[in-house]
Amino acid sequence: MNKLNAEDQHKLEALRQKIKENSQNSLGYPVSKDFDYSELFELLKYPVNNIGDPFADCTYSVDSREMEREVLEFFAEVFRAQKNDWWGYVTNGGSEGNMYGLYMARELHPKGMVYYSAATHYSVHKNLHLLDMPNIVIRAQKNGEIDYEDLSNTIRMNRHMPVIIMANIGTTMTEAKDDITKIKAILNDAAIQNYYIHCDGALSGTMSPFLNPRPAFDFADGADSIAISGHKFIGSPIPSGVLLVKKSHRDRIGRSVAYIGSLDTTITGSRNGHSPLFLWYAIKTLGLEGFKKRVDHSLSVAAYAENRLKSIGLDAWRNQNAITVVFPQPHEIVRKKWQLASERGLSHIICMPNVTESQIDELILDIEKYREAVLS
Ligand SMILES: Cc1ncc(COP(=O)(O)O)c(C=O)c1O
Repeated sequence: MNKLNAEDQHKLEALRQKIKENSQNSLGYPVSKDFDYSELFELLKYPVNNIGDPFADCTYSVDSREMEREVLEFFAEVFRAQKNDWWGYVTNGGSEGNMYGLYMARELHPKGMVYYSAATHYSVHKNLHLLDMPNIVIRAQKNGEIDYEDLSNTIRMNRHMPVIIMANIGTTMTEAKDDITKIKAILNDAAIQNYYIHCDGALSGTMSPFLNPRPAFDFADGADSIAISGHKFIGSPIPSGVLLVKKSHRDRIGRSVAYIGSLDTTITGSRNGHSPLFLWYAIKTLGLEGFKKRVDHSLSVAAYAENRLKSIGLDAWRNQNAITVVFPQPHEIVRKKWQLASERGLSHIICMPNVTESQIDELILDIEKYREAVLS
């Protein structure tokens, strides 16, 4: 390989600078930035690829499957999966995990109807389109949680069809959590026998086992599959995710492929072998205690942010045990500086583990500075 010429070197340096600056002021997206994976950098020299099933041998062995399995075991345990009845893999992100959940549901219930709330992440609609699955959008309550009455009425109108639920364990805008116990009661009341529940826990799935009260979202609560993002609460330089599903479901779709000497059970062929290493490293160095500390820190900064916003007269609120604080959208300059996601006149900040009270103070100063311009 040749060296970069001066112009390209300059371009690269400018990008480095831009990414460094922009990552300091990001409060609007659920991405943790407080990680240090430098011990793993050496491994970036190698084409690590976990092609095929994480639990099956593969002819290509420049892989990190062993660590991937440890990551999966960790989540199977905290998501209370039944021993020996779980399977999963490290994905490219929450969207892929959600797609897998829907794919699994369709294979098990080809004539099923999918129900999901209006507050669901935009990628789910695309996934349903790709999978060609009939679906109905259910009203969301004001806090972003699914409207259980609308869900119940709609299911009853289609009770001849198996039910596939895409539940939100933390919606994108307000971090609302649908309650699996309530959803199961609705299915029970309507005498629905064939159903599948997938939980989209992109951000809050990782935090939920450490919350008190613990939200009803995991395998012991009745989930058939759960997807989370790895780059959100844990943090990773490369987007990633974890998908877990009951093993008895997965066994129905596995297919052996001679070329790789493995099972073709995942959505993509080649799979990122570095992502599992970042997650593995975080799990090993944090431990359960470390996860709990991060959750507590985020909750405490979120409570601080909510109070500070209220103290300057803004109508700020958050769901129970949420690290997302919702408030009326500030001036465009503030939204741009702090990269605040906004929708229908509302903005939010997400108090990820790297967010500090002094950043919140700085944001408040900016909101006040440009407030007159918003009101006029
Ligand atoms: C609720 C929810 N589901 C799914 C996703 C998609 O996750 P990913 O970006 O990891 O694909 C997001 C992303 O923000 C999300 O908020």
